[in-house]
Amino acid sequence: MGQLADILFTNVNLATMDPKSKIAYGIVENATLVVKNGLIGWAGPAADASAFEAQITHDCAGAWMTPGLIDCHTHLVFAGNRASEFEMRLKGASYEEIARAGGGIVSTVTSTRAASKDDLIRDARNRLAALKTEGVTTVEIKSGYGLDLENETKMLEAATALSGDDVRILRTFLGAHALPPEYKDDGNAYIDLVCNEMIPAIAKAQLMEAVDGFCENIAFSTDQIERVLVAAKAHGLPVKLHAEQLSDQGGSQLAARYGAISVDHLEFLSNDGVDAIAKSGTVAVLLPGAFYFLKETKLPPIQLLRDKNVPLALATDCNPGSSPITSPLLILNMACTLFGLTPEEALLGMTLNGAKALHMDDQIGSIEVGKRADLAIWAIDHPAELSYWMGSNPLSARIFNGKFAA
Ligand code: NIG
Ligand code: FE
Repeated sequence: MGQLADILFTNVNLATMDPKSKIAYGIVENATLVVKNGLIGWAGPAADASAFEAQITHDCAGAWMTPGLIDCHTHLVFAGNRASEFEMRLKGASYEEIARAGGGIVSTVTSTRAASKDDLIRDARNRLAALKTEGVTTVEIKSGYGLDLENETKMLEAATALSGDDVRILRTFLGAHALPPEYKDDGNAYIDLVCNEMIPAIAKAQLMEAVDGFCENIAFSTDQIERVLVAAKAHGLPVKLHAEQLSDQGGSQLAARYGAISVDHLEFLSNDGVDAIAKSGTVAVLLPGAFYFLKETKLPPIQLLRDKNVPLALATDCNPGSSPITSPLLILNMACTLFGLTPEEALLGMTLNGAKALHMDDQIGSIEVGKRADLAIWAIDHPAELSYWMGSNPLSARIFNGKFAA
């Protein structure tokens, strides 16, 4: 009798994204993969596989398998939409001008505060379904459209309700996203609220895995963000930062000093910023969807980041203002066409490096024995196709935690 397995995948080509592999994409052709107890039990060339006795044998007929995609930066929970601001921008108004005039993030805060938790769950579930359809198995969801304890809690509870037996959700508290109208002109008082009331209460309720902030002219200064990072660290929480999106504030250097797991956006990242995050081992999360949708022209310093071996992750940044995008495959394509990533770098950005940006790379992000069996099967002839097609979806199956998932 052969070794017992839960699922045996045969006749499959693997893009393992295993960092130990010397081959592009960690490719193993004509492979076998074994799932046992929700984990990858064995993976390698079919010729090397011993006999396995499985409850399910799935002949992949030469299809490709990758790690399940990871969307490590989203604002998936929100109410309403900002199509009218899209129209305003097309008539010449800038994202910054709209925000300063009381639109932007604050307009989504108004609709999110008015929505019930069930409304938020229902809308976000539709967006989550779109991500899953394209092979996503892990999604990070930020708060940041509530901006008071009650509504930030409601958002994080909605995010919690979205996690289930077919997708993994990680929650990030983004109280320092924008100044709520009731604190107009008193950013410091709002940051007091974030640090002294919101972070302690949300930590106590165990509703977050990390803390994020928006360091920008139209949001919070480095001094204000530093207080948020200190409060997060005091609660033992890892930090992330929206940094250098519209201007260079030095947010990345600040985040690096607090050992941030990621800094995100980075179009205006300076050489000093690159050096700082390279030293702190912080992941650079690139968001080409926001770059595209805001018609930005300044590119993140990709070559410098590569030269300094900073891990590059990619995400949809799904949100109603700067990136109303629920297609991770489109993001792979944009990362290549707009930012000049190779298709291999792009896929790494939505697998292993996405996992690193969530401190989850010991469990997910590559096909390696002992990691969670979060997998995607694609009807393609080569993994570069995942960055190449636009508007078609070659996903043929998604496996979450060792089980076929819809
Ligand atoms: O990641 N940069 C700040 N936050 C979001 C945008 C939020 C919004 O416009 O609603 C982002 O781009
Ligand atoms: Fe964002």
